[in-house]
Amino acid sequence: MSSGQSITAFAPATVANLGPGFDVLGLALAGLGDTVVARLTPTPGVTIDAVEGDDAKLSLDPTRNTAGIAAAATLARAGLPGVGVALSLRKGMPIGSGLGSSAASAAAAAVAVNALVGSPLRRSDLVGPCIEAEAAVAGRHADNVAPALLGGLVLVRSVDPVQLVRLPLPDGLVVVVVTPDFELPTRAARDALPATITLADRVRNVADIAAFVSACYSNDLPLLAASVRDDIVTPARAALIPGGADAMSAALDAGALAASVSGAGPSIFAFCHSEPIATRVASAMKTAFSGAGLAASAIISAAECPGARVIG
Ligand code: HSE
Repeated sequence: MSSGQSITAFAPATVANLGPGFDVLGLALAGLGDTVVARLTPTPGVTIDAVEGDDAKLSLDPTRNTAGIAAAATLARAGLPGVGVALSLRKGMPIGSGLGSSAASAAAAAVAVNALVGSPLRRSDLVGPCIEAEAAVAGRHADNVAPALLGGLVLVRSVDPVQLVRLPLPDGLVVVVVTPDFELPTRAARDALPATITLADRVRNVADIAAFVSACYSNDLPLLAASVRDDIVTPARAALIPGGADAMSAALDAGALAASVSGAGPSIFAFCHSEPIATRVASAMKTAFSGAGLAASAIISAAECPGARVIG
């Protein structure tokens, strides 16, 4: 390790919850993500040199930025707390949009820092440091950081201790994510959730998650479509998103298999079984948001996408 040496890593945007799996299910996307350059410095500790693409919304204080927190936690986990690292973060997605922005910064930083110090930690060891970072800004959950690190579709069975299950995805499944020009901080979207649920809601939710997982293993798209249902979290969040309910209905009318809120919102995602349908669905969802007075952007991604990686 020599001062000045640097590593660049990229981590993707993610869709968390996927309907029934609040804090439990998440998948990695293609086409959007954050990039972190980590550089060795002679001074111990983590600093942040620069953040780009954030409209000056993020802190350069490493204790208040998920990239800085994940970097320090990664060094601590590796038993190297005295190493000096300077980070530069380039945001490649809007903040507070339900695309796992804070998780992508954390995952890219953890992967870059681990590689910079000789990769002493396995990929699964980086999940804990990234959860620490996520907990500091958005709540203690792993359904964004886990797919951002591992790629694909991940089920979070437990956060303490970390226990993750990588799930298969039905062949040819395509994800559309439409993001309106409207910021909804995750903390506010979590504060809007009910504190208790009924036994009937709990029964429906367990059945839907079990059906979702089964559909993934059996390539059963109709079952997958039916199981992307949630009467607990989604109604509370949809009420905070202008045009959100209309965007979900528009997606279904345009041929999507299912649609729901992406993470804490305001993005809305839809599952589709072909690219041409996905293109139609994206356009219908954007039109629905424009009916609520919001411009929106869309991405179309394969459902099975890689997680964070070193790119330079
Ligand atoms: N599961 C989390 C939530 C994801 O819905 O609040 C957002 O980061």
